[in-house]
Amino acid sequence: MGTADDEVLMGLRKAWPTAFIFNPGGQIGPHESTREQGERWLANGADLISYGRAYLANPDLVERFRLDLPLVSTDRETWFQTPHGYVDYPSYQH
Ligand SMILES: Cc1cc2nc3c(=O)[nH]c(=O)nc-3n(C[C@H](O)[C@H](O)[C@H](O)COP(=O)(O)O)c2cc1C
Repeated sequence: MGTADDEVLMGLRKAWPTAFIFNPGGQIGPHESTREQGERWLANGADLISYGRAYLANPDLVERFRLDLPLVSTDRETWFQTPHGYVDYPSYQH
């Protein structure tokens, strides 16, 4: 804990009466939300963690987390244009 954002979010967690879905990245910043951030917020009382960029590039994100597989980064050059970059990243090739 420690930052002002953490305090606000802990307050929201306590005040929120139902399922609390948390995105560790918040507003889009330079770094994608990570598994470690998600786990930290699960420990802080979140019910579900949402991922944006990590899910775009890793359609099997949960499986990758479960098996500790490497993640692919999304290519921001493909955002807001065509389906390319949204629907065609492959699952991990075992
Ligand atoms: C391609 C793309 C489109 C997005 N569109 C929206 C949007 O329409 N509205 C919104 O509130 N956030 C939007 N976001 C931001 C995400 O909801 C999320 O807050 C942000 O990506 C941080 O989470 P992440 O680190 O898991 O990616 C978008 C993000 C990406 C990468």
